Amino acid sequence: MEYNFSNKVVLVTGASAGIGEATALLLAKMGARLSLVGRNEKNLKSVAERCKKDGASATLTIVADLGTDEGCEKTAKKTLEHFGRLDVLVNNAAIGAVDLIEKGDMAVFDKLFNVNLRSVYNLTRLLVPALIASKGNIVNVSSLAGTWVNKGAVSYSMAKAALDHFTRLIALELGPKGVRANTVSPGITISQFHQRMTGESDEQYQDFLTRTSKIIPLGEPCTSEDIGKMIVHIASDHSRMVTGTLVLVDGGLQFSSLGDVLTETLK
Ligand SMILES: NC(=O)c1ccc[n+]([C@@H]2O[C@H](COP(=O)([O-])OP(=O)(O)OC[C@H]3O[C@@H](n4cnc5c(N)ncnc54)[C@H](OP(=O)(O)O)[C@@H]3O)[C@@H](O)[C@H]2O)c1
Repeated sequence: MEYNFSNKVVLVTGASAGIGEATALLLAKMGARLSLVGRNEKNLKSVAERCKKDGASATLTIVADLGTDEGCEKTAKKTLEHFGRLDVLVNNAAIGAVDLIEKGDMAVFDKLFNVNLRSVYNLTRLLVPALIASKGNIVNVSSLAGTWVNKGAVSYSMAKAALDHFTRLIALELGPKGVRANTVSPGITISQFHQRMTGESDEQYQDFLTRTSKIIPLGEPCTSEDIGKMIVHIASDHSRMVTGTLVLVDGGLQFSSLGDVLTETLK
């Protein structure tokens, strides 16, 4: 089974690092034309260069803060001006935050919902006409946090749960127009995400990965490429009858705490 994205225009948000970067590099090898969005211009340009070397038939870099209306409008406008069409929209960019309701901070809540949810609604709204024209599809990158109930990231988890439902709602609305929409939800995945959120050192992050690997049934965290591969599969024609669904890529982490609790009660 081969993946072919030649002549397809794919917009990847958060392409300057982690999962977005890995997804862009995979799509480049499949000949996609790529619109790459992020805030860090240097990283974005470096990813675009590697995409070109790997086979991308064209790359466009857009430096934009998707947490602003201007950033979303610029992204949609530049992509359509440059390529004249859009086949796949990968809404991947997001930030994390540690928060508990007892220490609730409205600034954190607003920032999380703005960058992780409002921007997705806004960018999708702006690009839906182009996706209807191409009979394209949308992949929203969510998180196990949106499905699971876990402590310490209330705003982030709520925003991801809302994103999951957004996928279902637009899948229903846009299906009759030939547009698919799906969610890929990573579990613990090696990228800059965790350290950006916690401020932990490299050593502390390695320790976090070692500790969490013990509760992941498959015994290790995901790589950004593991997630990218699922994004590519869902976005490809091989998934032509898949819409409104949520695919967890988490090494089985979703079952770990429930499994532990049940085992304890059976003792
Ligand atoms: N890593 C994990 O363990 C994990 C687990 C579950 C879900 N996820 C989800 O996976 C997705 C990708 O995360 P990652 O692990 O690849 O994180 P990452 O390494 O921190 O990368 C995040 C990307 O999003 C971009 N971004 C953040 N805020 C932005 C904004 N306001 N405007 C434009 N771009 C923005 C960043 O751009 P710049 O670097 O240029 O600022 C970067 O390219 C996110 O949706 C995250 O919630 C990750």
